[in-house]
Amino acid sequence: MLKKNTVTSFREAKKRGEKLTMLTAYDYPTAKLMDKSGVEAILVGDSVGNVILGASDTLSVTMEDMVHHGKAVSYGVKNALLVIDMPFMSYQTSVYDAVTNAGRLVKEANANAVKLEGGNVVCPQIKAIVEASIPVMGHIGLTPQSVNAIGGYKVQGRGEESASKLIEEAKAVQAAGAFAVVLECVPADLAKRITETLSIPTIGIGAGKHCDGQVLVVHDMLGISGHSTGFVPKFAKEYTNVGELMTKAFSEYCLEVKSGNFPSEEHGF
Ligand code: KIV
Repeated sequence: MLKKNTVTSFREAKKRGEKLTMLTAYDYPTAKLMDKSGVEAILVGDSVGNVILGASDTLSVTMEDMVHHGKAVSYGVKNALLVIDMPFMSYQTSVYDAVTNAGRLVKEANANAVKLEGGNVVCPQIKAIVEASIPVMGHIGLTPQSVNAIGGYKVQGRGEESASKLIEEAKAVQAAGAFAVVLECVPADLAKRITETLSIPTIGIGAGKHCDGQVLVVHDMLGISGHSTGFVPKFAKEYTNVGELMTKAFSEYCLEVKSGNFPSEEHGF
């Protein structure tokens, strides 16, 4: 029997040394299948901009996009912890905006928690959202909303100075009240140090096996991204090739309609 995952069960999993699973979803049927499979957290990522809306980055994603996709996902989620990303400029502008927009994701899209990117600089926002009784998942390392400032999608925390800075950011996010933190594109040994330093769970993506949990973008792990965006990150394992299955089914349908083999009698009235 699957049980409802909560921020408390996340904290307890870390204490017991149990690995946590998270995947992204952007629609009802995918969320429903994931939830049934026992995935412990479902993230409505702002990666919706790349993998669903066809943009080249996440910067154009709006609160309306997140509410729209978040609500659809929420209808498919029973047991997983539903985490919804705060999009670019929905929290960076002020603490007031951050709390108001986090509240919208709870009230309008049924989020159990929100996720936002950044370290020290967004700690006042994390603290205020948590004080409004909305759990926050942090996200440090490669933070795609800062792509223009970082100068590309690069591994973060290489070299001792940069590594120490990232450890300090992780500690600050925890002290601000985050219940978990995503580590994206961080060397595995640094992710291990951060994981051992923090009492909250670390969820890795491109951060090696020592994190307390893992997250992947669903279109990457299903083998769709390679066929759509044409880009599969090095850290993403393709567990199947849904893109190939879809292309085959679409081609077969075209052939059968053209040849008059579909619809047959069994598909008619
Ligand atoms: O938007 C997203 O999908 C994410 C994951 C990569 C963690 O933030």
